[in-house]
Amino acid sequence: MPEASPVVGPRRALPPNDPRQYDDLAGEWWRPDGAFAMLHWLARARAALVPPASTQDALLVDLGCGAGLLAPHLAGKGYRHVGVDLTRSALDQAAAHGVTVLQGDATAVPLADGCAAVVSAGELLEHVPDWRRAVAEACRLLRPGGLLVLDTLNDTLLARLVAVELGERLPTVPRGIHDHRLFVDARALVAECARHGVALRLRGVRPELGGTLAWLLRRWRGADRPVRTEPRIVPTRSTAVLYQGSGRREG
Ligand SMILES: C[S@@+](CC[C@H](N)C(=O)[O-])C[C@H]1O[C@@H](n2cnc3c(N)ncnc32)[C@H](O)[C@@H]1O
Repeated sequence: MPEASPVVGPRRALPPNDPRQYDDLAGEWWRPDGAFAMLHWLARARAALVPPASTQDALLVDLGCGAGLLAPHLAGKGYRHVGVDLTRSALDQAAAHGVTVLQGDATAVPLADGCAAVVSAGELLEHVPDWRRAVAEACRLLRPGGLLVLDTLNDTLLARLVAVELGERLPTVPRGIHDHRLFVDARALVAECARHGVALRLRGVRPELGGTLAWLLRRWRGADRPVRTEPRIVPTRSTAVLYQGSGRREG
């Protein structure tokens, strides 16, 4: 019987959502079958919401960009990709993938009002103690007519069960990376965006079941064997667990 692939978690005991976990897991970012595998699937789905740039100098600001997993999916769309993140070890990898990086907090971004044609906040808000402040910053950075795209976890018991109690026991999500108390109520998020001039539309998403089971099985059979196809992120009726949002700034 082959040995199951170990669930990857932080290398030292840290509180849930402690940003130092990303340093401990720095080697995992770009492994398609590593601890951040699901972030790759989500990045592809998020990038699909971003149309090609309509001007030559269009800026896409990627808040909480991590190691820049969005970058390959934006190739050819014509944006200058600027990434903001707290974690230096992740930013170094993002820079190596062509992202212009800024180390900083998504709640106080050192960029001008209205500079961005697109702001992305992928799997960020559920890690930020003051997510409302990060949303205000995202909306501030958008030019009139600019597009906000995001995905995050809902503040529900189901999200806690699926994303933390189950998800963090699977090899697709690092153990201890989430603090469910920071999960983002979908209705409050829509209201907050509206307050800042962005009409956000939501849809529930999830990893496709068959592809995910096949992915887990292949990974379980041997972690050394590279995983060839990645599961797709597909729409689902409920926003109760994971959801995407997109909306344009008025004006
Ligand atoms: C789950 S990862 C998502 C990374 C990337 N968006 C992706 O989808 O691949 C969360 C990232 O947010 C960053 N982060 C957490 N809190 C932050 C904050 N207040 N400001 C900026 N970055 C933050 C972490 O360092 C980490 O890189």
